[in-house]
Amino acid sequence: MTDVDFTALGIEPAEFKQKYGPWALIAGASHGLGAVFARQLASLGLNCVLLSRRPPVLEELQRELESDYGVETLVVGVDLMTEEAVATIIDKVGEREIGLLVFNAGAPPFTENFLKASADEWAGFVRMNTVTVYRCCHHFGGQMVERGKGGVILVGSHAGFGGTRKLSLYTGTKGFILNLGESLWAEWKDLGVDVLNLVIASTDTPTMREHMAAHGMEVPEGMATPEEIVPLGLAKLGDGPTLVHPDDVDVPAGEKTRGDLRRDHVLESTRISAQFIGD
Ligand SMILES: NC(=O)c1ccc[n+]([C@@H]2O[C@H](COP(=O)([O-])OP(=O)(O)OC[C@H]3O[C@@H](n4cnc5c(N)ncnc54)[C@H](OP(=O)(O)O)[C@@H]3O)[C@@H](O)[C@H]2O)c1
Repeated sequence: MTDVDFTALGIEPAEFKQKYGPWALIAGASHGLGAVFARQLASLGLNCVLLSRRPPVLEELQRELESDYGVETLVVGVDLMTEEAVATIIDKVGEREIGLLVFNAGAPPFTENFLKASADEWAGFVRMNTVTVYRCCHHFGGQMVERGKGGVILVGSHAGFGGTRKLSLYTGTKGFILNLGESLWAEWKDLGVDVLNLVIASTDTPTMREHMAAHGMEVPEGMATPEEIVPLGLAKLGDGPTLVHPDDVDVPAGEKTRGDLRRDHVLESTRISAQFIGD
C-alpha cells in the first residue's frame, strides 16, 4: 500500500479523480517510476491501464492494485517500438475513458556511441520516443480536449536539454518530447487539459541499475527514487509545462525556478510566433 499524504501535497483525491479519471493509461508500468505511478494513481481511485512488453509482470501489479485499492485495471502487452503499437493500444483500451496519459517508457536500449549500433537498431527506440509518443498524445489528448478535461504527463530527462556523448538519440528524442509537451501545454492550457513534462535526472530504477551494471558500475548512494518523484509529478500536474527535478524542488518563495523560466519562454515564444502564424 502506498502511504503518500496527498492532501499535504495539495492534491484533493476526489477532485483529482474527477479531473483525471476514470482511467489512467501508464505506458511503461511494469517497474520503476511507472509501477509507482500506477500504485499512487490507484490509491487516488483511478482505474489503470498497465502497459509494457511483459504481461506476466503487469498481471502481478494488476492483482495488487485490484486487491489493495479496489480499482479496475487492464493489462496491455505491447512493444512501443513497433509500428502497430498505437493501433493495438487504442484497440485494447476500447471505450474506456482515459483521463490521464502517463508516458513513462523511454530509456535508451544502448548507452553507447552513435555508431556502435546500426541505424536500423536505433530505429525502434526513435519510433517509441517520437511517433508513438505523439500518436498517443494525439489520440488520448484529443479525446481529453473534446471532453474539456484531463492530463498528460511525459516523463523526460535532463538529457533533453542538450547533447551528451553516448546519449545521441536519447538526448535527441528527449528534446523532441520536451518541446512537444511544452507546445501541447500552450495549446491545451485553456481547454481544460493539463500537460506536464516531468524532467528528471538519474533515478534508481531497474533500467538504470542494468545500464550501470553493464558498465561495471555500482549505484551511488542518495540517488533519487521513483517514490519521491512521482508524487511531485502528480501534485504539479496542473502547473505545467515543465517540472525539473531536483532543480525545482524546495525553491524559496519568490525565486524563479527552471520550470518557471521555461513557462515564461513558452508563453513569450507563443506570443511572438502568433504575429506570423496567428493565435
Ligand atoms: N532512470 C533514470 O535514471 C532516468 C533518468 C532520467 C530520465 N528517465 C526517464 O524515466 C523514464 C523511465 O525510465 P526507467 O529508468 O524506468 O527505464 P525504462 O526502460 O524507460 O522503463 C520504464 C518502463 O517502460 C517499459 N518499457 C521500456 N521499453 C518499452 C517498450 N519498448 N515497449 C513497452 N514498454 C517498454 C518497461 O517495461 P518492460 O521492460 O516490461 O517492457 C518499464 O515498465 C524514461 O522515460 C527515462 O527516459 C530515467
